[in-house]
Amino acid sequence: MSVLTILDSVPTRLFIGGQWVQASDSATFPVVNPATGKVIAEVADATAADGEAALTAAANAQKAWAATSPRERANILAKAFDLVIEHRDELAAIITAEMGKPFAESVAEVNYGAEFLRWFAEETTHFAGRYSVAPDGRNRLMVHHRPVGPSLLITPWNFPLAMATRKVAPALAAGCTSVLKPAALTPLTALRFAELLQDAGVPAGVVNVVPTTQPGELTGPLLRDERLRKVSFTGSTAVGRAIIRDSAEQVLRVSMELGGNAPFLVFEDADLDAAIEGAMVAKLRNGGEACVAANRFLIHESIAEQFTSRLVKRMNEVTMGDGAQPETQLGPLIDEKSRTKVHSLVESAVLAGATLRTGGEILPGEGYFYPATVLTDIPAGAQILREEIFGPVAPITTFRSEEEAVSLANNSEYGLVCFAYTKDLNRTLRLAESLETGMLGINTGVVSNPAAPFGGVKQSGLGREGGAEGILEYLETVYVGISDPNER
Ligand code: SIN
Repeated sequence: MSVLTILDSVPTRLFIGGQWVQASDSATFPVVNPATGKVIAEVADATAADGEAALTAAANAQKAWAATSPRERANILAKAFDLVIEHRDELAAIITAEMGKPFAESVAEVNYGAEFLRWFAEETTHFAGRYSVAPDGRNRLMVHHRPVGPSLLITPWNFPLAMATRKVAPALAAGCTSVLKPAALTPLTALRFAELLQDAGVPAGVVNVVPTTQPGELTGPLLRDERLRKVSFTGSTAVGRAIIRDSAEQVLRVSMELGGNAPFLVFEDADLDAAIEGAMVAKLRNGGEACVAANRFLIHESIAEQFTSRLVKRMNEVTMGDGAQPETQLGPLIDEKSRTKVHSLVESAVLAGATLRTGGEILPGEGYFYPATVLTDIPAGAQILREEIFGPVAPITTFRSEEEAVSLANNSEYGLVCFAYTKDLNRTLRLAESLETGMLGINTGVVSNPAAPFGGVKQSGLGREGGAEGILEYLETVYVGISDPNER
């Protein structure tokens, strides 16, 4: 099937209460392919009234969905996993067309995203409460869990499928209904995913999808609506803060996956071949448009020049182009605004004295391309070391001791992920205890795994997605105190 045929058949209306409907004011918005700047679809633009209709559908479906058996929910999730895998190439083509990443990476995203469905299908039936004897030997303590209730799931554009499955799957597993608001830049994948969920047997109203170009107008009233019980958001720290503020009114359960500023540490004892491979993945996966992308390369001064020249060579070999072309290894950035931001971070670092070792130049032509870029000699405190770059730019700085490396790594308001290359087990354990981070990759450039708790500390967020922890975000804990059965 050609990409055009695939795009022609993707649903473009809102998905509310099991029906595909137009926006209440019939408005639509264009979806653009970032590799060409051309419009590939017109999608219904949900209004605040549509958001409310979606929440009504979710609230009406909540009781029946919560009453389904764990096995029933597990079977539906397992079927959804099968369908996503069956439609892998089609979903990958949609992801590449609307988000720009190379097709092979889109396929990897579909595999990654599908695994959340499988993981939570398994978690559904294995989840248990507990029964214990109180320490004084008298009362009995029973703990069980109930679904939190209707949830608002707000997903970003960088992983249009995986970020949706990472939220929808645990919500479904826990017995929660939801309103999914995908990013307006990449709504098509979420709409096609909703169709597959319907085919998998998810009942009407249990998952509703409302793309919109007016996110605040749609989500604001929902966050203040007493029928909503939870919000899960992946995106920038600035928007996350605003959502946390709005959530205070109804004291909502909140999960936040926010910004990152990942340090990538290479110690003097590291396997340099492995460190270079890891650096390429940690920097160029998703074109650097990931909150877990390596943002600051901190290299021991004794190997810094060797590391830098090898990284520059590898970055120079990267083929940039339309993600739909098989040879492409680096796609475009998502839009002009992002490209301008990335370029201005590079320009301001160079103005402050940094050396451009490769890249750093916007070439003429269609699409929002930005080349793989390496910077060295960056002055301490430069903006590029403080901000999330979200692009294929590797700023390299050096350290002299482990203590200095840890202090530099921790010198950030963020604490999502750190990467470290070392062969020293004791150092690894010291890093695990001293780095202020929610996730730590040792001798690897990727930590994301549906079976592990993804999330950050400090201003990188609240809560965890995936792993055994993921389902707890959608469950209330209920404790029942029972009098001693042996008394009287
Ligand atoms: C993100 O960038 O928000 C998620 C990346 C991942 O799951 O690996």
